[in-house]
Amino acid sequence: MGREGRRALIAGNWKMNGLAENGLALARAVSAGATPDIDLLVCPPATLLVPIAEALKGGPVAVGGQDCHAEQEGAHTGDLSAKMLADAGASHVILGHSERRQDHGESDRMVRAKLTAAHDAGLAAIVCVGETLAEREAGETLRILSTQLENSLEPSAAGAPPLTAANTAIAYEPVWAIGSGLTPTPDEVGAAHAHMRGYLETLIGSQAAGMRLLYGGSVNPANAVELMNIDNVDGALVGGASLKAEDFLAIAAGVG
Ligand code: PGA
Repeated sequence: MGREGRRALIAGNWKMNGLAENGLALARAVSAGATPDIDLLVCPPATLLVPIAEALKGGPVAVGGQDCHAEQEGAHTGDLSAKMLADAGASHVILGHSERRQDHGESDRMVRAKLTAAHDAGLAAIVCVGETLAEREAGETLRILSTQLENSLEPSAAGAPPLTAANTAIAYEPVWAIGSGLTPTPDEVGAAHAHMRGYLETLIGSQAAGMRLLYGGSVNPANAVELMNIDNVDGALVGGASLKAEDFLAIAAGVG
């Protein structure tokens, strides 16, 4: 079964890491090592979007933001709009990461509003979902994924551009697996991704088959081959290991 024709996407979420000198060098090294059969994306901190987008322009690696506001401009001190990310050279944006949900109180509803803003600005979005450890232990994982998908994507949202396999990807990121060195078993990842694929079909119909479902949470070169070869896993959202070009490229090389 595998990816059934879906092109793999390996995305690096640099989080709050990277200064001009090392960030630019990291982006250039990723670009230099890119292989043509996989989509690669780097999401540096916003301060580096412009120089990195300029350095990677026309090359094989896309550039994305890590968040955007739900509005395109206005009195929102410290925030960035999707239009600004696009203007800086980004083609993608990560939305609803659990660190945003936890640190900034982002709800599914807010994620939905941001998704509309991203699509209106021409950005493709990676929408993150995932259960906490307590939810997993309570046997709630699949229910949580359904709820987060339904409310973060809300396909019938008024005035929202249609959700397509091209403008949206989903990242399954168990909160307890992020930055912890822990990962679910391959069976658990496979069950979560199969569930998401099926549930997406009820939400968005035929576009679900082509939508990329990434796994994220402690992906590294040692576990990438196993994780990336699970049915319905179409790539990875990588945090810590995306900060070393060698590791990030080794993860990409693990895609079958
Ligand atoms: P990690 O982070 O790879 O460091 O676990 C993944 C993420 O938060 O996207």
